[in-house]
Amino acid sequence: MKFDFTTETPEVRYRLLSNFVGPRPIALVSTTGKNGPNAAPMSFFNVFSHDPAILILGIQKRLDGRDKDTVANIQSTGSFVVNMVDMAIAEGMLICGLPFEPGVDEIATAGLTKRPGVHVPVPSIAESPCVMECITQEVIDYGRRDHSGQGRAHGRPRRLP
Ligand SMILES: Cc1cc2nc3c(=O)[nH]c(=O)nc-3n(C[C@H](O)[C@H](O)[C@H](O)COP(=O)(O)O)c2cc1C
Repeated sequence: MKFDFTTETPEVRYRLLSNFVGPRPIALVSTTGKNGPNAAPMSFFNVFSHDPAILILGIQKRLDGRDKDTVANIQSTGSFVVNMVDMAIAEGMLICGLPFEPGVDEIATAGLTKRPGVHVPVPSIAESPCVMECITQEVIDYGRRDHSGQGRAHGRPRRLP
């Protein structure tokens, strides 16, 4: 089968992209901001480089076009924590992924425990098997759900194959 990324719908592109790399690790990304602590699962996530050490997150907009709390918080504090997910916290991770309004503490709502950050003003999740505190290097805005959007091209897929 052949697919043209320039003509497929966003839904089809999502399915193609999210199944292209597997299995997919899930980062439960904790942040904080004017509305307090926050956590959201991100599967558009990976380690990206070791020298310099870089992790990358792919954070979409909300369906109504507003920024998700995670990206708003990352922009306001310049930091975030990646908490890896195992089966023990899988259910809590899914609860954190529900579309709560700003101001809802997903970590507490999911029954998870906040641990104060060591080098960043962001709590990690105590139940996570391993966490990484991160300083934001760059936030790139690619535009909303529009393949021809305004962002700079960083290896954006066009075709499969
Ligand atoms: C398993 C899983 C993986 C997800 N991966 C992503 C992702 O990579 N990027 C993204 O923008 N949203 C992803 N989401 C959806 C966000 O977690 C969801 O929109 C969340 O409500 C955002 O919360 P926030 O507004 O507190 O940042 C994922 C959800 C789940 C359950």
